[in-house]
Amino acid sequence: MKPATAPHADAPIGVFDSGIGGLSVLRALLAELPRERFAYLADNAHAPYGERGDAFVAERARAVLARLASEHTVKALVIACNTATAAAVQLLRAEFAPLPIVGIEPALKPAAALSRSGHVGVLATRGTLQSAKFQALLRGLDGRARFHLQACDGLADAIENEAASARQQRVGALIDQHLSALGTLGCSAGEIDTLVLGCTHYPLVLPQWQARVGGAATLLDPAEAVARQTRRVLAERGLLRHPTEPPAEPLWLTTGTPDALASAVARWLPAVSTI
Ligand code: DGL
Repeated sequence: MKPATAPHADAPIGVFDSGIGGLSVLRALLAELPRERFAYLADNAHAPYGERGDAFVAERARAVLARLASEHTVKALVIACNTATAAAVQLLRAEFAPLPIVGIEPALKPAAALSRSGHVGVLATRGTLQSAKFQALLRGLDGRARFHLQACDGLADAIENEAASARQQRVGALIDQHLSALGTLGCSAGEIDTLVLGCTHYPLVLPQWQARVGGAATLLDPAEAVARQTRRVLAERGLLRHPTEPPAEPLWLTTGTPDALASAVARWLPAVSTI
């Protein structure tokens, strides 16, 4: 399916995730591109994606983009979800060409460059880690670092759906569990000194990561690099909104309950902290 008309600079940028994780990317986009209009779509009715399999996620990504293109005539799409990028970015680019599509993937290359011990921990969903795209990324960096992979089952779901009263404790317990399974953190030989947050939900609870990791490892989140890449892609195509245009409140869309998304946005967007 193709967008009906050529993209226009004043049209919104579509941003989507399985749920609220993409708010960590939207925050960076709003800082980098304050004059742009955004239509954020949370596929809450079908979240979480991470343990669902590529075919399901690709189908959802296709349906979401079809809606953003036809109902909101977006000029570009940011897939603010590592799992959906891994499962669908290539097919979406082919199907929706020439719509510019920016994806997100775990920051392995910057992590390999940064690590002194040569041991990097990668925290992501099972879907991302098992995807052909991620495996190819890993092969391309063969010999640059030793990557320790940890599928954080249940974590995105707990961040997204756990009742506020229990969230801190449940999320903390899952972070502890997944970090222990990963290995020893630190700067000595054989220890992991760099951690890649490879799911956009994880930076939402950055203080909880920081409390557990302390100074033992550096945490990496590619959201700001994605925002800069979005700017480049729009600039190359002459699609940046005019700098004198007033900032606009994002349009909030969900396949779930609008009230639940509104409270999630109020809870998470102002609270997202940067690394
Ligand atoms: N936030 C998503 C990601 O970056 C997906 C989490 C999920 O739905 O499991 O992978």
